[in-house]
Amino acid sequence: MHEMMSISEPKLRKELAPDEMLQVIFKYAAKISGEKDLDKLLMLMADMGRELIVSDRCTVWLYDQEKDTLWTKVAHGVDRIEMPSTSGLAGHTVHTGESIIIEDAYNDKRFNQNVDKQTGYRTKAMLVIPFRNHEEEIIGCYQAINKMTSIGIFSEQDLKNLEMAATYAGKSLESAFLQYEIEETQKEIIYTMGEIGESRSKETGNHVKRVAEYSRILADGLGMKREETELIKMASPMHDIGKVAIPDDILKKPGKLTDEEFEIMKSHASIGYNLLKNSKRHILKAASIIANEHHEKWNGRGYPNGKKGEEIHIYGRITAIADVFDALASDRCYKKAWELDRILNLFKEERNEHFDGKLVDVFFDKLDELLKVRDTYKDV
Ligand code: C2E
Ligand code: SIN
Ligand code: SIN
Ligand code: SIN
Ligand code: FE
Ligand code: FE
Repeated sequence: MHEMMSISEPKLRKELAPDEMLQVIFKYAAKISGEKDLDKLLMLMADMGRELIVSDRCTVWLYDQEKDTLWTKVAHGVDRIEMPSTSGLAGHTVHTGESIIIEDAYNDKRFNQNVDKQTGYRTKAMLVIPFRNHEEEIIGCYQAINKMTSIGIFSEQDLKNLEMAATYAGKSLESAFLQYEIEETQKEIIYTMGEIGESRSKETGNHVKRVAEYSRILADGLGMKREETELIKMASPMHDIGKVAIPDDILKKPGKLTDEEFEIMKSHASIGYNLLKNSKRHILKAASIIANEHHEKWNGRGYPNGKKGEEIHIYGRITAIADVFDALASDRCYKKAWELDRILNLFKEERNEHFDGKLVDVFFDKLDELLKVRDTYKDV
């Protein structure tokens, strides 16, 4: 008990009067109703809950049915974001729909002390209520830890107040959650499309992952902002989506392509571009550029349009390096993987020929990071 005092030295506070409570609700209600970003919303809700019922910490856990986990992006004093849904009191509430008020979590067998062991925090009083969507399905829970008044325990009134806060925030949470799910789904679809483009040529899903990470690292090395490096990471896996239209006997040919076959193969760039170009989505627009330009060469001898130098979009120049690095470092149906030295020599030779010289410099600067990705996402 004195351990907790020495670590966090909590200051005791007073219970809110009804008018103060209204003020807290008004303060947060406006912000919450306008907030579409799930992370920010979770933080606002945690802050509102904490102020409203005078707790030290408050967390909004969301239930992921598919993975059977509870997760949160933000939590007061907790940097962990995911735990099995069967874990602890939060898990109990999510599975049973029961609210919980306890005086000391350490006297409750359901409590999971692991978090405290990691953080040095001492959880004592706890209040957990389920969070439901408009169909009354449980989508998560609101968890308050340690009552900061001199009484030190949560009351039935706190439970009612937190439920009220949950009701206020419920609609916003649901729509932000839906938006989040839509975005995650989009990312998955895009990713899957990339895998389809590659899987027909027997390349593993790891190729897609590696090209995505290599492209992000190169973009980052150029000094691009995080938003743009993430965009490139999401769009680059689709560079070969046009290969879906290439016949198997060419795509999977174990040996060297004839000139005629290679002409057909080359069409994958413009096919990919045409598949994607009409989308208004940010990511797909970037992907269409990448599909079209990832085989252009700095010296103008690439395809499909023979673009040269900075006429080639920077996304195309970045993905060109990522793609060739990965193609050379991997077994293909038509070739064995190259030794690293041989690959590095090629990039030196092709500096300002195939590839943008300043990107080759970034490539060498970031080589350690690139190799780490290669080793993490090995082909099996
Ligand atoms: P990919 O296998 O993903 O290769 C991407 C790019 O990596 C190639 O674009 C090329 O620039 C580089 N690359 C891959 N392997 C080698 C290599 O052994 N030596 C050199 N110098 N560069 C290499 P590229 O050439 O435009 O080829 C586009 C796609 O056409 C390849 O994608 C692959 O799917 C197919 N392809 C190219 N050559 C052959 C071949 O001889 N046989 C078969 N079956 N497919 C080929
Ligand atoms: C936590 O302390 O963050 C979760 C533990 C529990 O809900 O039992
Ligand atoms: C190409 O055909 O242009 C490159 C593939 C290879 O060198 O085998
Ligand atoms: C771009 O990002 O629009 C291209 C800029 C460049 O080629 O440097
Ligand atoms: Fe390609
Ligand atoms: Fe590829």
